Amino acid sequence: MTRKTVRIAMNGVTGRMGYRQHLVRSLLALREQGGLDLGDGTVLWPEPVLVGRREHALLALAEQHGLDPANVSTDLDAVLADDTVDIYFDAQVTSAREEALKKAIAAGKHLYTEKPSATSLDGALELARLAKAKGIKHGVVQDKLFLPGLLKLKRLIDGGFFGRILSVRGEFGYWVFEGDWQEAQRPSWNYRSEDGGGIVVDMFPHWEYVLHELFGRVTSVQALASTHIPQRWDEGGKPYDATADDSAYGIFELDGGAVAQINSSWSVRVNRDELVEFQVDGTEGSAVAGLRNCRVQHRASTPKPVWNPDLPATYSFRDQWQEVPDNQEFDNGFKAQWELFLKHVYADAPYRWDLFAGARGVQLAELGLKSSAEGRRLDVPEISL
Ligand SMILES: NC(=O)c1ccc[n+]([C@@H]2O[C@H](COP(=O)([O-])OP(=O)(O)OC[C@H]3O[C@@H](n4cnc5c(N)ncnc54)[C@H](O)[C@@H]3O)[C@@H](O)[C@H]2O)c1
Repeated sequence: MTRKTVRIAMNGVTGRMGYRQHLVRSLLALREQGGLDLGDGTVLWPEPVLVGRREHALLALAEQHGLDPANVSTDLDAVLADDTVDIYFDAQVTSAREEALKKAIAAGKHLYTEKPSATSLDGALELARLAKAKGIKHGVVQDKLFLPGLLKLKRLIDGGFFGRILSVRGEFGYWVFEGDWQEAQRPSWNYRSEDGGGIVVDMFPHWEYVLHELFGRVTSVQALASTHIPQRWDEGGKPYDATADDSAYGIFELDGGAVAQINSSWSVRVNRDELVEFQVDGTEGSAVAGLRNCRVQHRASTPKPVWNPDLPATYSFRDQWQEVPDNQEFDNGFKAQWELFLKHVYADAPYRWDLFAGARGVQLAELGLKSSAEGRRLDVPEISL
C-alpha cells in the first residue's frame, strides 16, 4: 500500500457544518479508519489545512484534534497559491462563497463546496462554466441522498415497490428559538436575507436533488414563502429584524407526472418521528422515509378506512406500517459523499453531484422565491451551459 497525502484547504471550518460534519465526521473520521483505500494499492490520507478569519479559533481546533498548527491560515490567497494543496473546500456563510470559489478555480484547485454554490443562478452557472474551462474536478454537497432513510427509499424505488409513483409529501422543520429567552440553535445570518439567509435558499437546493434523483426532474414550482417570526435575537443577544423567510410551502411538478408538496419551516413544532419525513404514495404501495428510518404499507395490506366522524378511530393507522430493514451498514452521509468525491479526483471515478447539479438547486430556490413574490406557478427550464 502506498500512502498518498492529500492536502485539503477547508474554509469555514469553525462553523456548524464545516466543523462537525466535514472536519470531524468526514475527513478526521477517514483518518481514524486509516485513510481512504482507492482499491489500486493507494490509500489517501487527508490532511486538512484550516482556513478562516480567526487564527486563535483555528489554532484551538488544530490543537483539539492533534493537527499541525502549521496547517492553519487566515490568508486564503496564500493557501490557494500553495502547490501542495490540491483541493479547496468551502463551508463558509453562503454570501462569502462565490468569491472564494472563483479564486480557487482560478488557482486550479479541485473544488468541493457546501450548498448553495452561489446566491443566484447566474452566479452558480458562471462557477460551473469557469470550472469546466479550467478542467478542474468539482462537487457540491448533496448529503441528504446518503441518509439511511433516503437510501432505503431509493432501494424501494429501484425494486419497483411503488408501481406508478403518484405523489411525495415532505415535511421538514422544527422550532428554532427566537434567541431572547432561549438561545437560537441556528446562526442569525440564516434569518437575514441580506446575509444570504432564508429557508427557501437553504432548503430548496436540497429538495431539488432529492426529487430529481429519486423521482424525476422538477418541471414547475409554486411556493409561498413566509416570515412568521419577524424579530429574533442574535448571538450577542441583540434584537434584529428577520428579513428572510422562515417557512416555505412548495408544490413541485416532476418529470414523469408525480407531484411533490414539501413544507419547510423553522417555526413549526415537531410532531413526527424525524425532523424530515417524506411520504411517497404509489399505485402498489406507500412509504414514509425519514433521516434514518423508512416504513412501508403495501397495496395488499392497505386498510379500508371509512369516513365517520361520529365514531372514534378503532385502530392505530401508524401500526399498520412495516419497518424496512437496514440490510447494510450506513456511514455518515457527508463522509460517504466525501469519499466519492476523493475517488473522483484521485481515481477518476464518475461523479455527478457537481457545480452543474448545484446550479439546479440554486435555480429552484431562485424560482421558488420568484413564484412566491409573484403569486404564480413557474416552469423550471432545464439549464444548460
Ligand atoms: N448540507 C447541509 O445539510 C447544510 C446544513 C446547514 C448549512 N449548510 C450550508 O453550510 C454553510 C455554512 O452554514 P453553517 O450553518 O455551518 O453556518 P455557520 O454560521 O455555523 O458557519 C459559517 C462559517 O463561515 C465563516 N465565515 C466566513 N465569512 C463569514 C462572514 N462574513 N460572516 C460570518 N461567518 C463567516 C464562519 O467563521 C464560520 O466558520 C452555508 O452555506 C449553509 O447553506 C448546509
